[in-house]
This record gives sequence, structure tokens and C-alpha cells, in this order.
Amino acid sequence: MTKLGVNIDHSATLRQARYRQISENPNLIVEPNPIEAALLAERGGADSITAHLREDRRHIQDSDIIELRRRIKTKLNMEIACAEDIINFALNIMPDYVCLVPENRMEITTEGGLDLTRNCDKAASAIERLSKKGIVCSVFIDPDAAQIEAAKSIGAPVVELHTGAYANAWGISGEENFQLNRISSAARRAQELGIVVNSGHGINYDNVGKLMSVAKFNELNIGHTILSRSIFVGIEEATRQMKALLEKFSA
Ligand code: PXP
Repeated sequence: MTKLGVNIDHSATLRQARYRQISENPNLIVEPNPIEAALLAERGGADSITAHLREDRRHIQDSDIIELRRRIKTKLNMEIACAEDIINFALNIMPDYVCLVPENRMEITTEGGLDLTRNCDKAASAIERLSKKGIVCSVFIDPDAAQIEAAKSIGAPVVELHTGAYANAWGISGEENFQLNRISSAARRAQELGIVVNSGHGINYDNVGKLMSVAKFNELNIGHTILSRSIFVGIEEATRQMKALLEKFSA
């Protein structure tokens, strides 16, 4: 059964939109609280909670990660860039999983995978340090054979395939099939090499079924669509609905 990781970053995005400068007033109710979002997602069936501690601290803050580590009952998956201070922070917090992602300060959200074929030294060293402490590491990469081979060469036990190009091709039949084939081939190659395959980015209630029909995934990391639906039905129910789809399409 494919597991569901719920990415709560956008609950923090909403909080920061109003409360970036935390006031001195202790009576202020700073909302929404990403920890509450995580706990409700767990009640809705999330198998793990994902949070991206960006170098620019755009949404998730250090204190959120500390509190998540203390309070969630499932697994904590930290997305981080290969930056020394953030790696050290992760080594202190000891999340269950770390996903190494690229970061570009101008992007609105993570836009592409890590290019391990060009520069993999930092990722290799991060994986070595985090793995030694028992943290399971993944690398967020585009679904391409060269990236899979590079992930293998640096000892990544898990890859998270970037599904953004597939999501963006939704409804354009030739392009959509092309992107699904890329994901399917990349997943197959990774599995041949003994690498666990996760996926994430742009997955929603509509496109998840086709995605799951082309490969077997260990876990899907999903944020924006669940947070969007939660405005109308609440995060527990939005998570429950996605979890039901994962159950249905895993069968
Ligand atoms: N996986 C990774 C590595 C991400 O950086 C993100 C957020 O951009 C996601 C999954 C979740 O993507 P989305 O919010 O589009 O579901």
C-alpha cells in the first residue's frame, strides 16, 4: 500500500502572510498553527508529515520543526537543501527521513529536482552524515535514468521522483503520456537498482490515479491540493479523502 506523506508547508505560508513580524503582544493568536495541521492530517490517515525548512525561512520556522518532532506520532520527513547549517539542524532534531531538495530563492515552490549528474558531492556527503545517524535519506530528482544512476552512485537509499512535469501536462494527452512514461521508466530502473521510490509535487485528487497506475510507489508526498481542499472540508477530511484514493489505487 502506497503511504501518504502530507506536506504542511502551506499552512505556514498562510501564517507567515500575516505574522511574519511576530508582535511583542503575547495575547496575539498567531494562526493557522502548522502543528495543528499536522496533528489533524495524522487523524485523517497521514503516514508521515513533511515540512521544508528553507534557508530563507519563508514558511516553516525552526520552532515548527522542533514542535513537530515533539508532537507528531507518525514519521517526520524534513525537506532540506544541502546547506551546512540546515544539515546540522536536522542532525540535532533527528527526523525519521530527510529529503534533499534544491533551493532557489526566487522560486515560489520547489521547481525542479536536484541535478546529481552535475554536482553530487554535497548531496553525497549529506547522505553519508545523516545516514550514519539512522536518518533515511532521499533525493528529490527528475524522473530520468541519468539521475537514478547518479542517485545510486552516491548511496541514496530512496529517491523522490519529481512529478511536477506530469502534473503540468495534465489533459494534454501526448505530453501527459510522455511524462507518465518517464516516471514509469525511472521508477523501474530505480527499483532494479534496489532504490525505494517515492514521488511528489503537483499530485492532486484528479491526477493521482493515473500516476499510481504506471508504477508502485512507497510513498507520495502531497501538500498543496490537500491544503487547498482543507479550506472547504478541513484538513482531517481532505487527508482522509486522499488516503482513500491511495488505498483504492494501491489495490
Ligand atoms: N515533494 C517535494 C520534494 C516538495 O518540495 C514538495 C513541495 O514543493 C512536495 C513534494 C509537495 O508538492 P505539492 O505541494 O505540489 O503537493
